[in-house]
Amino acid sequence: MADHVSALIPDAHRVFAQIPTAPDDPILGLTETFRKDPRPQKVNLGVGVYQDGAGVVPLLGAVRKAEEILISKGLSRSYLPIEGHATFREKLQRLVFGETSSALAEGRIVSAQTIAGSGALRLGADLLVFATPGATIYISDPSWANHQAIFERAGLKVASYPYFDPATKALHLSAMLETLNHIPEGSIVLLHACCHNPSGVDPSREQWQQIADVLAARNAIAFIDMAYQGFGDGPHEDAYAVRLFAERGIPLFVSTSCSKNFGLYAERVGLLSFVANNAHTAHCMLTQWKRLIRGNYSSPPFHGASIVAEILSNRELEAEWISQLAEMRTRIKEQRGLLAAALGGKGLDIDFSFMVEHRGMFTYTGFTEQVVDRLRDEHAIYMVRSGRMCVAALNNSNIDYVAESIAASLRATMR
Ligand code: LMR
Repeated sequence: MADHVSALIPDAHRVFAQIPTAPDDPILGLTETFRKDPRPQKVNLGVGVYQDGAGVVPLLGAVRKAEEILISKGLSRSYLPIEGHATFREKLQRLVFGETSSALAEGRIVSAQTIAGSGALRLGADLLVFATPGATIYISDPSWANHQAIFERAGLKVASYPYFDPATKALHLSAMLETLNHIPEGSIVLLHACCHNPSGVDPSREQWQQIADVLAARNAIAFIDMAYQGFGDGPHEDAYAVRLFAERGIPLFVSTSCSKNFGLYAERVGLLSFVANNAHTAHCMLTQWKRLIRGNYSSPPFHGASIVAEILSNRELEAEWISQLAEMRTRIKEQRGLLAAALGGKGLDIDFSFMVEHRGMFTYTGFTEQVVDRLRDEHAIYMVRSGRMCVAALNNSNIDYVAESIAASLRATMR
């Protein structure tokens, strides 16, 4: 049998023999390496996943209770509509755009359930390739490592605008606005609603107004990625930019993820929304999304979206979720303060206060690749090579070790 098969294989397989090995993903590939690392002191500050004080990715109480309710209902598992779970879409739309959104009331917003935030970005990109052929999407420099890959794979041209100032470790607003002021009309601009990934640097409300002014003047299309709603100041506060742009009448795509704020990473729950200037265009948009979804994965999965729908439909569960979200947010802020203080006491002559200023799960440390590599090789501490650190994985048991290791690595590379 084996001889017979090998005699038939060579010609048909020749084409695949040309395929080279693809590089590991800069973020998820790091987790694969981390898992294989046998050193007991290892700490993964790479991937953006929240861990509690015990170093565990928590199953939120509200999620567990919602699952119990869903099991007791014994719901059938027939296909969801192509555009997804109706209650999930309706409730999440309200969480994103607010109860008093005039665009919502006027039927100008459409939403489809997606395979998490990444799937929402890809669906939006597929539609943009179809609707605005040849257009360029401008992403922040730096941006989430996967933004460029998702948009390019869909067929969009990708360019960047300045965002982070390495000298101040804060927003470089003037450079950002200067570039956006000169983009061709009709360009697409990707923005992060809150808790910018990877920098942790967000515009203030006043700065968001200035950004909206520029996009309006350039007749640009806004695409706001909101993967961390609730990790900055709270779910409503963090939606400020989304609601502002919707109010200003800028054509707006919004990708939302429930991975982080509901702790539903593996369930892949997300939503893509579009704010049109009339209900008819909004409706047409949804029909196009349905066509794209059907030709891709046909229809979305049930479980994760039904959990979110259950939580957001039940006042008690919703209140519990809001308070658990606040707990996560507060714990991250505490860890930021503790790390900055611990590093500040190491006599390094470096101001680490930026770690406290940054928001959400990440801080852009400015550490060189040499420092990051040293942390991994000598101390089993994993960070993205860009210098992005996930502070949401720090806890009272690992923070001293992390601070000590960072100080040692910085000293060694300064020599
Ligand atoms: C991250 O940035 O670490 C997360 O969004 C996880 C991912 O998919 O990259």
